Amino acid sequence: MKPVTVIAAATGALLCVIAFSTIAADPSPGQREFNARCAMCHGASARGDGWLAENLIRRPPSLRELKKKNGGVFPREQIARTVDGRISIKAHGPSEMPAWGTVYKTEIETAAGSRRGVREEDEINISYRIQVLIEYLATQQD
Ligand code: HEC
Repeated sequence: MKPVTVIAAATGALLCVIAFSTIAADPSPGQREFNARCAMCHGASARGDGWLAENLIRRPPSLRELKKKNGGVFPREQIARTVDGRISIKAHGPSEMPAWGTVYKTEIETAAGSRRGVREEDEINISYRIQVLIEYLATQQD
């Protein structure tokens, strides 16, 4: 083989390794969001043992038992409402968990800039963000 061919083959092989390891290690959007926004309280494996947990008045629950606690059915709609948090009835007193619906709404509006008002499609965006989290949590049930 000519040196150029060898270099080309080696580069090709290296690119394959890089591409493969990127695919293999790439977490889902839901997992990325969970790691960035939820793990500090609920723990990296959703057991309620995040680094911030012991500084809270109420310990964040394990999110691995949502299905078990609901008679073996993973309660998507109920989780969506809890995570969104904007229409929670404050029967249990103020929550220490941020209302993610409000957080995402603020982020979307900030990113869009002040020239633009609130748009209906923002709600679709918010519920999409919550759905990917729920899909991830569905894979983490004991
Ligand atoms: C600041 C800490 C904190 C963060 C960050 C946090 N949570 Fe929570 N979460 C809690 C606490 C505390 C509770 C217990 C109920 C309460 O106080 O409102 C809870 C409750 C929940 C519940 C209800 C669990 C059950 O057993 O009914 C779900 C679902 C949940 N969190 C999901 C999430 C998701 C998803 C994220 C990330 C987007 C997140 N939490 C981020 C503290 C947190």
